[in-house]
Amino acid sequence: MDVVALVPAAGRGTRLGAGVPKALVPVLGESLLLRAVRGLLHSGSVHHVVVAAPAEQRGRMECELAELGDRVQVVPGGDERTDSVRAALDAAERFVPTAEVVLVHDAARAFTPAEVIRAVVAEVVAGARAVVPVLPVADTVKRVDADGTVLSTVDRSALRTVQTPQAFTPEVLREAYACSQDVATDDAGLVERAGHPVRTVPGHSHSLKITTSFDLAVAETVLAPAHD
Ligand code: CTP
Ligand code: MG
Repeated sequence: MDVVALVPAAGRGTRLGAGVPKALVPVLGESLLLRAVRGLLHSGSVHHVVVAAPAEQRGRMECELAELGDRVQVVPGGDERTDSVRAALDAAERFVPTAEVVLVHDAARAFTPAEVIRAVVAEVVAGARAVVPVLPVADTVKRVDADGTVLSTVDRSALRTVQTPQAFTPEVLREAYACSQDVATDDAGLVERAGHPVRTVPGHSHSLKITTSFDLAVAETVLAPAHD
């Protein structure tokens, strides 16, 4: 069964402020992009990867990934993450028309353990149409008004935070992107709006999204030394 992963990597990395697109930021000598794409391929569950790069960095990202061979294709991304995923999805339909599972995985989650990648793929193979890795919420959560005064305490037992890779059947992801022009931070959100159920599997703390310099410090000291 052919599995293709779409990797949005066209963001600017404004909050990290490294002066280069976040995907090109090195952690112990290797970029987030190389680590994320290699992690997908080395999981054994992903056969092809389509990366959405900032248009002016496409060649640079192709060089960065050259060692992984011709199972990786780099295409220009767009202004919003949704545009980048859409561009990668269009390319994947040409590049891997036989794909039966499509993953979407942020380049910024460069340290996702292989078992999480394998788990989302396995859930689609078992019949789910959309799958997301999730974590329970550790902190108490409160709803507040515009002034910051607490309105209520939310029952956190029913809440989850959501990670990537998110896995879909090609039909469901295509339909979600075809019927929405919305900007979403989460691909499963578009699938929910299209009326399809979304399953969950356990996520992992090492799958954190590198967003700030604090996250980068965690990656350098904890995540990269533990990652294959
Ligand atoms: N992304 C993308 N295209 C965009 C915006 C984001 O492909 N137009 C990608 C990023 O490269 C990243 C993932 O989506 O891998 C998650 O986005 P985020 O963590 O917000 O990264 P950036 O947008 O680069 O960071 P910032 O918001 O701080 O600028
Ligand atoms: Mg962003």
